[in-house]
Amino acid sequence: MRTDKVIEQEHQYILQTYSRPDFVLERGNGVYLFDLDGNRYLDFVSGLAVNAFGYGDYDILKAIEEQAGQLMHVSNLYHTVPSTGLSRQLVENSFADRVFFCNSGTEAWEAALKFTRKWGNTVAGGKYRYLSFNNSFHGRTIGSISTTGQPKYHQGFEPLLPGVDFADFNDLASVEAALTDETCAILVEPIQAEGGIHVASQEFLQGLRSLCDERDMLLVFDEIQVGMGRTGSLWSYQQFGVEPDVMTLAKALGGGLPIGATLMTQKVADAIQPGDHAATFGANPVVANVAVTVLAKLMAEGFLEGIQEKGEYLRAGLEKLQQRYPDKISEIRGRGLIYGAVVTDTTPAEYLGAFREREILVAPCGTDVVRFLPPLVVEKERIGEVIDVFDEILRQA
Ligand SMILES: Cc1ncc(COP(=O)(O)O)c(C=O)c1O
Repeated sequence: MRTDKVIEQEHQYILQTYSRPDFVLERGNGVYLFDLDGNRYLDFVSGLAVNAFGYGDYDILKAIEEQAGQLMHVSNLYHTVPSTGLSRQLVENSFADRVFFCNSGTEAWEAALKFTRKWGNTVAGGKYRYLSFNNSFHGRTIGSISTTGQPKYHQGFEPLLPGVDFADFNDLASVEAALTDETCAILVEPIQAEGGIHVASQEFLQGLRSLCDERDMLLVFDEIQVGMGRTGSLWSYQQFGVEPDVMTLAKALGGGLPIGATLMTQKVADAIQPGDHAATFGANPVVANVAVTVLAKLMAEGFLEGIQEKGEYLRAGLEKLQQRYPDKISEIRGRGLIYGAVVTDTTPAEYLGAFREREILVAPCGTDVVRFLPPLVVEKERIGEVIDVFDEILRQA
């Protein structure tokens, strides 16, 4: 089908919740995507932090094929091998004792909201309020937008879930001021991703841990975007010297197939009874088999160290551009292979368009950030190419 025909039908039949550029992606290979007209794009979006291993990864395709031929789906009423294996792998390689599986980030977040509230109501003597952060992002369902600290996601969907308070990110005094005797959990992204790539300080996350311990509250980390190796450690919290009580995962965990996971300590798990929560497709055998493969590949010797090294290269390149064009880039923020350049002369959309004209895909976030999210398998040479192209765009802007 021709590009214009696909776009015409998209406009006619799909609910218009996205504004998509005018090309149609058809296939991918490695770190490249190809459109219907045969154009090739270097992908620094990775399906928004999903395609850690790029496109057409042999091990992921094999995991899909083998499992799909054997058993594609059965109800969670029954035991299956892949989801059990995945749960063991997640528990043995994190702070957690238990895992609940679902299908997306927002579902993993909703599960975290339910589990922490159940704990608060039944174990902690009737605590039900959440403390979340301004500028956060946790998904698009009602519970998720209610705990997302950005009014633009709330507008028109009120009334929101009651019992949510907000404080300022990286500001412990504002947290102390917003806490109540009814707060059951503090909800935080160690790196606020959609909000514009703001990295928490170690002191801030450690302070939240202490507050939770002192006042009998749970600490919940949303690692949906920054977990699974993105920052150069399997989970980003490992770089802050702080462990949460609950953590949400999704995106890259499924290697391109949908999965969500809510990890928790036994203390939280003890509050949950059979029947309290469920998901028909949660860790379906195919996606669970892929996730087992994804985790094994992330933990292969040297892989995470490679991300750190490539991340330093990306940071150095972007910082050099910031020094060269201080009137156009005010700040570089990020860690590992998630970085944002804060642009001050025009909108991120203008920059996205300029990159696209040069056959590179990057993504916006926040109000003024151009985000770089390459597949974790990206080679240094490709990072160098993107920096050179950014330099050219900035020179001409
Ligand atoms: C930190 C964070 N939490 C939750 C979500 C929601 O995930 P999903 O789109 O899979 O529902 C996202 C998506 O971007 C995210 O970045």
